[in-house]
Amino acid sequence: MRANGEELLKLLRVALLVLLTTFLIVDQAMAEYGDIVLNSKAEAMREAEVDDVLFPHWFHRIRYRCSVCHEKIFTLKAGSNDITMAGISIERKMCGACHDGNIAWEALECDRCHSLEPGWSAGPIQHSVNRYDPEKPLIDTRQKRYTKLHEIASGWHPLALTGSGLPLDKYGLVNWADAVREGIVDPIWNLDPEADAKAIKSRDSVIVFEAKGDFMPDVVFPHDIHSFWLQCDICHATKDGAIFKEGVGENNITMLEIAQGKWCARCHGKVAFPISDCSRCHNQPKDEPLKKGMIRRHYLPQKEKKSQQNELFDF
Ligand code: HEC
Ligand code: HEC
Ligand code: HEC
Ligand code: HEC
Ligand code: HEC
Ligand code: HEC
Repeated sequence: MRANGEELLKLLRVALLVLLTTFLIVDQAMAEYGDIVLNSKAEAMREAEVDDVLFPHWFHRIRYRCSVCHEKIFTLKAGSNDITMAGISIERKMCGACHDGNIAWEALECDRCHSLEPGWSAGPIQHSVNRYDPEKPLIDTRQKRYTKLHEIASGWHPLALTGSGLPLDKYGLVNWADAVREGIVDPIWNLDPEADAKAIKSRDSVIVFEAKGDFMPDVVFPHDIHSFWLQCDICHATKDGAIFKEGVGENNITMLEIAQGKWCARCHGKVAFPISDCSRCHNQPKDEPLKKGMIRRHYLPQKEKKSQQNELFDF
């Protein structure tokens, strides 16, 4: 379909909006890239004279796939998990599922988690309280192996990451898809070492989302890398309602809604690569034939109906 002049103008307007919104997201993403500040209980924490908690995703995903925590231990939404010290130290839930002195260090040194110093916002240079001490090499107690990555992960972030040999994307953020493909990280999928690996569900179909208009290539959604990190339920049976209904064309997605943090941006821009990296998703040229295993998904006509209700969506 060729866009006429008026339509092109509308599309450009959307692209501009998307860009403006994603710049904000990127700004955040680059500052935090997967670091989550946990401070819903700020008052109680101030009383106990501890700082807010800084949870570093990157440190954990070197060892664990997302499915170890989501959503068996934590639901996939910042602020939605009721985490308490009693839960951690006595019931051994939440962080305490691992920080029990067996899988990982016990929750005794407060500052190791309560590390977000006041007036110091999570910035490009992240600080880790547990700096590497060559006299006391870190051993991952469960995996019983000690790697250079574990050493680096206990240093400065992401300056530590710079020297880590982890592949980087064009923003200098870790390219976690390549890190897996190149075998640099090999995160485990289940805390139980006896768990039957045959239970891992995987899928390798690739959904090609037709991007409306002529000026953006179509979007490629590969199931394989997603089902490596995440299990099906995280997307198709998410606890607060499926992010994506299972089936081709079941979801009426728009780029604007993505830029507002929905759909793909539930993860991208928060824990996975940012939305401003347009060409990492929009990388199927419209005139190129589909490769084997690719499923074409046309954009949905319902969108037109929706667009009449809202000027912003009118494109
Ligand atoms: C060690 C456990 C752990 C692992 C592994 C883990 N997460 Fe998380 N994740 C958390 C915690 C804790 C939170 C914060 C929950 C809260 O605030 O209540 C969180 C929150 C999130 C959120 C919500 C962010 C927001 O702004 O709403 C997303 C999305 C997410 N994780 C994605 C991922 C992805 C993708 C992976 C794998 C690459 C992953 N997580 C691996 C523990 C983990
Ligand atoms: C699935 C298991 C698991 C869960 C759940 C988990 N962690 Fe961890 N965490 C680890 C392991 C393993 C390490 C590395 C331990 C080591 O280096 O000895 C670690 C390291 C850390 C570090 C790095 C600190 C440093 O500088 O050494 C922080 C901070 C941290 N965890 C906070 C948390 C918080 C906060 C939660 C809960 C919101 C949590 N973790 C939940 C397994 C887990
Ligand atoms: C393994 C990481 C970890 C360690 C170590 C840790 N905490 Fe926490 N703590 C948390 C998390 C996560 C929360 C929840 C924060 C939120 O959601 O607002 C929390 C919440 C709290 C709260 C408020 C809720 C409650 O249960 O009362 C207090 C007070 C607190 N921590 C004190 C401490 C003290 C004191 C220490 C040291 C003895 C400590 N914490 C060590 C992770 C940790
Ligand atoms: C990161 C999120 C995500 C994960 C994880 C995920 N899917 Fe999907 N799935 C999607 C999206 C997006 C679509 C396309 C939806 C649309 O067209 O509206 C889709 C479509 C499908 C479809 C229809 C297309 C096809 O491939 O036949 C099936 C079946 C499906 N998923 C099954 C699975 C299974 C099984 C798993 C686990 C192995 C899984 N999905 C994991 C996001 C995900
Ligand atoms: C539940 C979390 C989640 C959702 C939702 C999600 N992704 Fe991802 N995606 C990931 C993670 C984790 C990776 C691994 C790379 C990373 O972390 O940056 C990834 C990787 C990718 C890659 C692979 C890049 C490469 O270099 O191979 C593409 C392309 C991608 N996602 C597109 C999409 C699209 C398009 C959607 C929406 C239709 C989507 N994703 C929804 C978590 C998610
Ligand atoms: C995480 C993957 C992802 C990234 C990154 C991404 N997009 Fe999209 N984009 C999508 C998906 C999925 C659709 C298809 C929506 C549909 O079904 O029509 C889309 C559609 C579009 C459309 C067509 C209009 C519409 O809403 O359908 C435009 C224009 C667009 N994107 C622009 C951009 C621009 C500009 C960027 C970079 C700033 C970008 N996109 C980055 C996933 C992505």
